[in-house]
Amino acid sequence: MYFNKIRHPANFVFSARPASVENLGGDVHRLRLRGAKPWKNPSQAELATTIAGESRHSVAVTKDNGLSLTESATGRSLLSGFPGATFGTCGSAWMLQFRHTAGLEFYGLGEHNKGLEKSGQRVKFWNTDLWADFSIFEIRHGHPNPMYVAIPWLIVKQGNDYLGILVNHPGAVFMDLASSFIWSADNPDDRNRGSFYLGAPDGEPDVYIIVGPSLPELTRKLQQLVGRTPLPPLWALGHHQCRWGYASAKDLQSLDRKFTEHRIPTDGLWLDIDYMDRYKVFTFDAKHWGNSTQLRSSLAALAKKGRRVIPILDPGVKVEPGYVVQDGGLKAGIFCLNPAGQPYIGFVWPGKTYFPDFSLPEARSWWAAHVKDFARLGVAGAWLDMNDPSVGNAELDDMLFDHGRQPHEYYHNQYALGMAKASHEGFLAARPDERPFLLARSAFISSSRYTAVWTGDNVANWHHLRTSIPLSIGLALSGQPFNGPDVCGFADDTNPALAVAWYKAGFLFPFLRNHSMLNSRQQEPWALGASALKIISHYIRLRYKLLPYLYQNFIAQEQTGEAILRPLFYDYADTAALPLSKIGDQFMVGRDLLQAPVVEENTRDRQVVLPGAHRWFSAQDGRWLDGGRTHATSAGPVETPLYFREGALVPMQIGERTTQKNDLGKIELHCFLRRDSSASATSTYAFDDGLSFAYQKGKRTTATFTARVEDGALVLTVDNYQPGFGPLSVQVMLHDRFQSVVFVHKGRRQSLPLTSARVKLTGRALSVKCTALKKIG
Ligand code: GLC
Repeated sequence: MYFNKIRHPANFVFSARPASVENLGGDVHRLRLRGAKPWKNPSQAELATTIAGESRHSVAVTKDNGLSLTESATGRSLLSGFPGATFGTCGSAWMLQFRHTAGLEFYGLGEHNKGLEKSGQRVKFWNTDLWADFSIFEIRHGHPNPMYVAIPWLIVKQGNDYLGILVNHPGAVFMDLASSFIWSADNPDDRNRGSFYLGAPDGEPDVYIIVGPSLPELTRKLQQLVGRTPLPPLWALGHHQCRWGYASAKDLQSLDRKFTEHRIPTDGLWLDIDYMDRYKVFTFDAKHWGNSTQLRSSLAALAKKGRRVIPILDPGVKVEPGYVVQDGGLKAGIFCLNPAGQPYIGFVWPGKTYFPDFSLPEARSWWAAHVKDFARLGVAGAWLDMNDPSVGNAELDDMLFDHGRQPHEYYHNQYALGMAKASHEGFLAARPDERPFLLARSAFISSSRYTAVWTGDNVANWHHLRTSIPLSIGLALSGQPFNGPDVCGFADDTNPALAVAWYKAGFLFPFLRNHSMLNSRQQEPWALGASALKIISHYIRLRYKLLPYLYQNFIAQEQTGEAILRPLFYDYADTAALPLSKIGDQFMVGRDLLQAPVVEENTRDRQVVLPGAHRWFSAQDGRWLDGGRTHATSAGPVETPLYFREGALVPMQIGERTTQKNDLGKIELHCFLRRDSSASATSTYAFDDGLSFAYQKGKRTTATFTARVEDGALVLTVDNYQPGFGPLSVQVMLHDRFQSVVFVHKGRRQSLPLTSARVKLTGRALSVKCTALKKIG
């Protein structure tokens, strides 16, 4: 396809006029342009029409085809076009061109595999099945783009001010981020006015310009616009085991036994395409699963053991007369058509396949009804794959939408969104009280309302381990916070050192799944040798220990749109002395936890940048290190550089977790303050049943904790304790020596004795003091 070249301003006529600039509130400005051609807007993204908060900036469109975004109080310009050369058209294509000023940096771009900062890149947004469009060499060692998820969201950073530009168009979108040869070198006039530009080959230009000004504010506003990720079931945040090849009840039962034997908590057991009868969607192969009563009872037995089964669902429906899904789909007329007016045929695992036209409400209802029956068999969630859509050797252009009336181009990037929406509806219809969990390979603007995403078919090598960090951060900053890579690598053979490094780096990513390709080396934790097993088990258990903290981050995402995985410059200012925006191999998980994994082969040592004017607690060795500095560190085979922010109160489950049984009502509250800490620490903890929507009706317990140091004592105050879902029991874990702990609740002060305990955070056991506060309230 047309991946590497994009439109050039030289071929555009700059005369189009904006039809309107609408201020939605919160400094979210919507721009719509008019050209000679009557454009349509086919986007089915679900975008908010009003945004909370004041607008302190205004977008003005000038008579001479210019544009400016200025701070209203000061007149300071944040973004401007060129007089006479801002809005251009070229046939049905359009573009918006902005001035590139010194110091601008670019981030975001959804799933885009070219490092953290994107200056100088030319980008296409087009959901792509990488393995169908790129060479294996490019996939193994390169930076193939576009990838599976197309979210045309550009973050523009100038110093510590951020703004974003979203193009709401489901066909191809292009961006040129000041790639070097936009303007011809022999025309000094052109050369001096460097620009960056974006546009689309067709479709109504529907562009949102959002001012942060900070990166967290910008991210929260974007999430408000595109939809925040609803709180997932707690089990979705656990560890997941997948492999192309798991097919039968026996396979899953054997996994269940192994995880139990090795005392590794694991919630999700996944089924790839082999569970189906000849890859026919919504079927289970009777050879592996028996009749429907046997199938249900196998799934129920696994569920009883706390294992959730998540099968794959591909959109392609096998062409086979007599197969009820095919016959029903044809009868209902819900498949995409080709230009000859016949159902379009592509090639996926079952051979010839038809494709539901998810742009149609009736096709979504048809799919949802099948998903409802499927969910009722006892599967916990669904894995939506090949939804780019992937059609094998057939030409995508022949796949038309809306009964053959809409060109492929008009729907491509939102195919996965329609499938996600319909699948979500199906799960809700089957189990109205349960929060659905879906994982998808492709996605579009607003998909995060329905699905988490994984980063597609990566490769088991160190290059892919390294790039998985900026890739996931890019998604997290682009409105898709619930994401993660195939841990240990999907294609090619992993090895123990790589698998261990991948778990160390990824064990706290919002989504954690071990997945590998058919015929590659087995990579279940026990398949990699005794020493790797020990270390990997430890990190999976540590994830479960930290589940209460991760869960708080998902609650915050649902409530405010706060990112979960973040670059360092999300929470800390980027300065000349400590240029955080250049760091793509460290990240924050929420506000309190910083990771700097070793992602180079045969290496133990690395530099770690610790930002901020406070200290950090190193979970590796229990030392406190100064922030605002770079430290040299070395991680042994078991450890990984993991740091907690001074001033954090981090909820964790009690002790070492060896099963997926969670109890969020009994926690350790780790207090990261020192005897000489001057700041206080505050955090709100909330928990509920982890599964249903009852929390929306008050069945949630919440408490706000504040800790501060007073004359050598640690004073912990609890406010707003509301035990809507039952009592909370807390053990305070201290990471420095205090004379005593004073517990304050409803004005009553109580001195508590200190007792010793041990807690293991990364490699080594740490000696800490703890005290038990039984049932607050
Ligand atoms: C695709 C998916 C991969 C899956 C395979 C077989 O390549 O991305 O995860 O294992 O298909 O279904």
